[in-house]
Amino acid sequence: MTGACNSLLLAGREARRQRLAVTVKELIGPYTLLRLERGELEPGLPGQFFMLEAPGRVLPRPMSLCQAPPGELAFLIDSIGPGTRALCALVPGEAIHVFGPLGNGFDLDVERPLLVAGGIGIAPMPYLTAALGDPPTILGFRTERHAEAGRLLPGAEIVVEPRLVTELLPDDPGDVLACGPEPMLGAIRRLAPRAQLAWEAPMACGYGACYGCVVEIGGRYRRLCVDGPVLRDAA
Ligand SMILES: Cc1cc2nc3c(=O)[nH]c(=O)nc-3n(C[C@H](O)[C@H](O)[C@H](O)COP(=O)(O)OP(=O)(O)OC[C@H]3O[C@@H](n4cnc5c(N)ncnc54)[C@H](O)[C@@H]3O)c2cc1C
Ligand code: FES
Repeated sequence: MTGACNSLLLAGREARRQRLAVTVKELIGPYTLLRLERGELEPGLPGQFFMLEAPGRVLPRPMSLCQAPPGELAFLIDSIGPGTRALCALVPGEAIHVFGPLGNGFDLDVERPLLVAGGIGIAPMPYLTAALGDPPTILGFRTERHAEAGRLLPGAEIVVEPRLVTELLPDDPGDVLACGPEPMLGAIRRLAPRAQLAWEAPMACGYGACYGCVVEIGGRYRRLCVDGPVLRDAA
């Protein structure tokens, strides 16, 4: 099912595009874990992302790598609109174009990592925790059903709204690496100004060409796909 592979050099790093088949689809609470053949694509660094073809839609959709099992790439998807619905409707054997890895991932050179994620912000955390040797992790979810995704990170502390992840942040949180909704990232930035934060914006190209992902963070305009999605010192 794997198709021909094209590659592109972006800021000295190679991203590849290839048609890859779904191997396994698993439902985890309201989310879908989509496992694809890896083909000739590199998994990249935790926090980097891939553009996934969404069948029937013109533009691909950005997704963080969730897990990198041998020979596979796995993505955790929250079905919130037409593109993510089309991705979640894929079945094993069907193939889509996948392009990546793209953007800047987390800096893994940290002494006291603390992972913090909210909602679908959990997506890059399983790959990140594997790279950092299972550091302490705090996860927050809207409902108990969403919190089922916590099983992807068995050692994590989990809070469900109305409790918030920031309530569990220690006074001296160490090196925070976080992904989640904008208000959560803003609150973490106030409590841990040196935190590495994975931001989100709608993306059309994923490699700096369309300027569709420009966001203002901390008074500066950034193309999130090439300057991020992981940013530090955003304040
Ligand atoms: C670097 C990066 C990594 C991502 N990783 C994941 C992941 O691992 N799993 C996952 O489920 N989702 C992830 N996303 C978000 C995902 O790409 C969007 O949810 C998806 O593109 C929405 O497409 P759609 O057609 O389903 O919905 P749309 O109809 O495009 O959007 C539905 C609603 O969400 C808003 N929206 C769409 N995309 C975004 C966005 N990126 N940020 C904020 N609001 C948005 C729209 O304005 C609209 O209101 C990531 C986004 C980025 C930028
Ligand atoms: S998505 Fe095109 S410039 Fe960022």
